[in-house]
Amino acid sequence: MFILGLESSCDDCSAAVVEETAAGPVLRSLVRESQDTIHGPFGGVVPELAAREHLLQVRAVMAGALAQAGIGLGDLDRIAVTRGPGLVGSLLATFSASKAVAWHQGLPWVGVHHLLGHLNAARFASPNLPFPALVLLVSGGHTHLYLAKDWTSLQLLQKTRDDAAGEAFDKAARMLDLGYPGGPLVDACAQTALRAADPFTPPKFRDGKASWSFSGLKTGVKLRVERNPRLAVAGAADAEVQGLCRSLQEAITTWLLKPLPGWAEETGAQSLVISGGVACNSRLRSEAAVLATRTGLLLAIPEPRLCTDNGAMIAAAGALLSPEADPWSQNADADLKLGA
Ligand code: KG4
Ligand code: ZN
Repeated sequence: MFILGLESSCDDCSAAVVEETAAGPVLRSLVRESQDTIHGPFGGVVPELAAREHLLQVRAVMAGALAQAGIGLGDLDRIAVTRGPGLVGSLLATFSASKAVAWHQGLPWVGVHHLLGHLNAARFASPNLPFPALVLLVSGGHTHLYLAKDWTSLQLLQKTRDDAAGEAFDKAARMLDLGYPGGPLVDACAQTALRAADPFTPPKFRDGKASWSFSGLKTGVKLRVERNPRLAVAGAADAEVQGLCRSLQEAITTWLLKPLPGWAEETGAQSLVISGGVACNSRLRSEAAVLATRTGLLLAIPEPRLCTDNGAMIAAAGALLSPEADPWSQNADADLKLGA
């Protein structure tokens, strides 16, 4: 079965062709148009600009994915698209395009929850993952831990009380004038550090509820920059900036992974999936491998291009869902809930 997967929930416009086989999904093509140069000057995604750019990109991205896979529209068996959550103007670009193609070609159509997509990105390398699985989804908008009993269900265990982990990376990078998006730049800068700066203090939760908090890191970096204004302009080649990036990255990864062994024991999880843009982080990947060895969890982190938003993960999830009987009455949902 050949599936065309489309994703445009934020600032990446992406299409992929995936062949679903008895052994799992096989990636036949993946095309992604980034909008980093458009949003970079603003230090974050501007929804109206993102929506307009998606409209310009969507046809070429779809055509590119088909050409790269060496197939035509007539060879497709299904089309899958992100239904939500996300920026509604952004979502609508690929959502409408997918319905137009489905109508024109008479193709089965399926709308996919964005987070089910991130989970299914792990299916390419680990199609036989043992369940239940702990699923850590970490991106610019999400820092959520779920329990999955299979590839199509997610039950929330804990989430951030404030900022997402990706936001902490992006905001810190902005204060240090490293560029946008911040995660990969902080990661690269941290890797060049000879030593870490003073560690950040982990947040304390008086109500005892399992959760994370990353907004204190933003304040922490701000205070250090106020004390030492040179940090705001010194750039990635500066040893102090590198040390600060390293301690920031150590704090984020240590805090993210800390609750996982407890949850693994409580839920009887057999495996751990980490996905979303922050799963590209070099330290998170290496620390997760250490944790997996220690706890006996089977670790599945998709290759970096499948961790960030992409059409392939949507196709892989869409392959497992039932197509809609009436695609034409469906709509994108900026606030889509899981299981809806
Ligand atoms: O999943 P994604 O592409 O889009 C959202 O749904 O948000 O994630 C984007 C986020 C950004 O915050 C970006 O800075 C972060 O992922 N990111 C990273 C790395 N690569 C991307 N964060 C830390 N280290 C990285 N190497
Ligand atoms: Zn995402």
